[in-house]
Amino acid sequence: MKVPFVDLVAGAKPEREAYLAAFAQVLDSGAFVGGPQVAEFEAAFAAFCGAKHGIAVNNGTDALLLALRALGVGPGDEVITAANSFFATAEAISHAGAKPVLADVEASTLLLDLDDAARRVTAKTRAIIPVHLFGQLADMPRVRDFATERGLRVLEDSAQAHGATRGGDRAGATGDAAAFSFYPTKNLGAIGEGGAVTTNDPAVAERVKRLRDHGQAGRHDHVDIAYNARLDSVQCACLTISLGRLATANEARRMLAQRYRARLGNAVRFVTEAQASVPVYHLMVVRVAAEKRDAIRDALARAGVATAIHYPRPIHLQRAYAHLGQGPGSCPVAERAAGEMISLPMFPDLSVAAVDYVCDQLLVALRG
Ligand SMILES: Cc1ncc(COP(=O)(O)O)c(C=O)c1O
Repeated sequence: MKVPFVDLVAGAKPEREAYLAAFAQVLDSGAFVGGPQVAEFEAAFAAFCGAKHGIAVNNGTDALLLALRALGVGPGDEVITAANSFFATAEAISHAGAKPVLADVEASTLLLDLDDAARRVTAKTRAIIPVHLFGQLADMPRVRDFATERGLRVLEDSAQAHGATRGGDRAGATGDAAAFSFYPTKNLGAIGEGGAVTTNDPAVAERVKRLRDHGQAGRHDHVDIAYNARLDSVQCACLTISLGRLATANEARRMLAQRYRARLGNAVRFVTEAQASVPVYHLMVVRVAAEKRDAIRDALARAGVATAIHYPRPIHLQRAYAHLGQGPGSCPVAERAAGEMISLPMFPDLSVAAVDYVCDQLLVALRG
């Protein structure tokens, strides 16, 4: 049996006719950029997140960058985030002119460790970016208290967590702002690139809108040196269509994750689901002994099972950030996890039979 890591073709099939009709509508309207589809998607996505404002932008990295700038982060500032995120989280901080400070993560959830973050706060710290990694929300009440006590802004990196909840919180609704990615493999994926910022603060929303459009307050009235970071009409139209299926797709991911958990039992170590957390399983990550990881992945590949690693090297150990001087040992939990993690196939259209096959093969490989 062949089990792909994700299957975008299968994912797009149920809405194929709707996507094509949306494309034709935009084609006939001539409003390729800035059409009514943009505001329609922004309103629908903000409502889905439970946020007051949604601003569509061209990708998740720029969503982070624009949100940081809108929150007042700039040169001379430091921003704390998790060491085991996708590189873009730190990259956006650098592009805002600030310095990324990578903090370690909790061993159980692999989410930002606020005790470690507290040790890294300096007089220059301006903001904190909790990353809702693999689709599980950070402990936002604790993050908010942490930030309030220290006068910091909170930006949620929600790129992997569309629809995730924890207690009364929902991704994108409880930070000063949140950044989402609609990269095709994400829980809500565009047919191309896309992203969004959500916020409850009208001033932040206004600023992000301006920053995505060359800093224009009105036509040819530029108040910021900014970006072209708009999301086009076709992507927004398609995202509105896909949004209609997101809750069901997330539910399917959760069901498959429970199947993985039940079938694999204690044979591997799972990422802990925190109390009252309802993750959306952007990724299905398990941990195995570091010295066996490569052999296990090879055995799975030979059995037709595609796997990945998110992420094999924490951000502070990337060559691009050598100048930060956070060498090996500065985030030991993230460093250890990087050697042990395997991401297993996970997408809403994955069959239970395929999950069972992956589990059977993994159990064989673990014994080998
Ligand atoms: C945690 C995280 N942050 C940021 C990004 C950047 O998003 P994009 O690829 O849309 O720029 C991604 C996705 O790739 C991500 O997984």
